[in-house]
Amino acid sequence: MEIIVCKNYEEMSKKGAEIIIEKVNEKRNAVLGFATGATPLGLYKELIKAYEEGRVDFSQTESFNLDEYIGLDGSHEASYRYYMDNNFFDKININKKNTHIPDGKSLNVDIECRNYDELLSKKTIDIQVLGVGKNGHIGFNEPGEYLISNTNVEELSESTINANARFFDNIEDVPNFAITMGIASIMKAEKILLMANGSDKIYAIDYLLNSKKISTKVPVSLLNVHKNVTVIIDEIIADKVKI
Ligand code: GLP
Repeated sequence: MEIIVCKNYEEMSKKGAEIIIEKVNEKRNAVLGFATGATPLGLYKELIKAYEEGRVDFSQTESFNLDEYIGLDGSHEASYRYYMDNNFFDKININKKNTHIPDGKSLNVDIECRNYDELLSKKTIDIQVLGVGKNGHIGFNEPGEYLISNTNVEELSESTINANARFFDNIEDVPNFAITMGIASIMKAEKILLMANGSDKIYAIDYLLNSKKISTKVPVSLLNVHKNVTVIIDEIIADKVKI
């Protein structure tokens, strides 16, 4: 596992962007896995800047997002489709048809999960960008007795609902369920780029790097069995976690 410590969030975002730009420049039809939340926002800004400066071309890129809230359609400002379009896809030259995000308004979520798996099974994600929840969740794979391998419907934990309430007008508006890529699909990616900053993520990163345990109760710890993981953290985390 490669660990990169950056001075601050800006440096982290630049570093993450460099890794993605390098891949897309080497393989124009790269398949990228994207995450949402506050963590990758700076990364997307850096990628937009690189695109505007002609340093990267996303016209042949395909993408898969990790997850989507059930009950929100793409026009809802807190949906992940809205987030990705507004913060990234609409500002680069990716073909929107090649950007896949589970449909949170699907009438049959089980079929939606199966269809997403079907799409994923035909591709290999070159780089999967990951953030991490305060409780160690990845995508929306929440801590539990077991984790599910394929795309599935996950009931969000109280910790996640509280953490994500900042993106909604009221905490009551946060959906209780989401569709998430499963652990097997995440682990199948050629490379995983995990980004984490700030004190809220100390527990998850410390568990990943130092617990010597792999536990479904801290899903991020599963990354210890992946052969190509780069973890980018800021100094706030690095100061508190043995590296
Ligand atoms: C959400 C997303 C995750 C994300 C996590 C952390 O629950 N489903 O993919 O990694 O939040 O978000 P943030 O980056 O805002 O801390």
